[in-house]
Amino acid sequence: MPALPTAPTAPLRAVLFDAYGTLFDVYSIGVAAERLFPGAGERLGMLWRDKQIEYTRLSSMSGKTRSFRDCTRAGLRFAAKRLGLALDGAAEDALMTCYDRLEPFAENRGILEELKRRGVRAGILSNGDPDMLEAVVGNAGFAALLDPVLSVEGTGRFKTDPATYALGTAALGLTAADVLFVSSNCWDAIGATWFGYTTLWINRFGLPLDELGAAPTRTGTNLADVLAFSFASSRNLAP
Ligand code: LAC
Repeated sequence: MPALPTAPTAPLRAVLFDAYGTLFDVYSIGVAAERLFPGAGERLGMLWRDKQIEYTRLSSMSGKTRSFRDCTRAGLRFAAKRLGLALDGAAEDALMTCYDRLEPFAENRGILEELKRRGVRAGILSNGDPDMLEAVVGNAGFAALLDPVLSVEGTGRFKTDPATYALGTAALGLTAADVLFVSSNCWDAIGATWFGYTTLWINRFGLPLDELGAAPTRTGTNLADVLAFSFASSRNLAP
């Protein structure tokens, strides 16, 4: 595992997870897309994700507030057009519905349960709209394992705007360095690092580190790498 050094010295006090790509497999949509568009499902899934994120950034940078669902739908429409696929209303709705039912990665339930068993507070901080997060968390049966579930929506911005990362520290009442922020999206892990979180990049696909002049605190390969950090149980902490 290409672990990066500098372990935090004091035990951490909470974990915040990114949602899409980290807890929930956005690329699993490629399977549904393949059924609709044989031979193009994987490419559609990848381009859709890239465009979705691009649109969040454009919206954020330009002060053009737009919901994550809207960015997601727009990204899908563009990706289908770009690949010359005939996306009718029914296919669009079918793929958008998949977003509310994304599969969690296989190990994730066990890791969330282990954190709960250890008394470690674990939540979500995501670009997703509140109703999208409620749907995907509920569908996976994770509602009792994650608190808080934070959407960036109220900021009118998307990651990597510092205002979005500040939601996590405000909700937890902790300093950023005391919180482990976990993302499979390298740019998100680095954005959180810039904000001051202790960070773990889950590099599931062996990708190179983004060339942004910064690195996450550590890099792992799946969610089990969270357990290599040292945590203070919230049961033993003063309120
Ligand atoms: C999220 C996206 C970035 O959940 O994956 O915030």
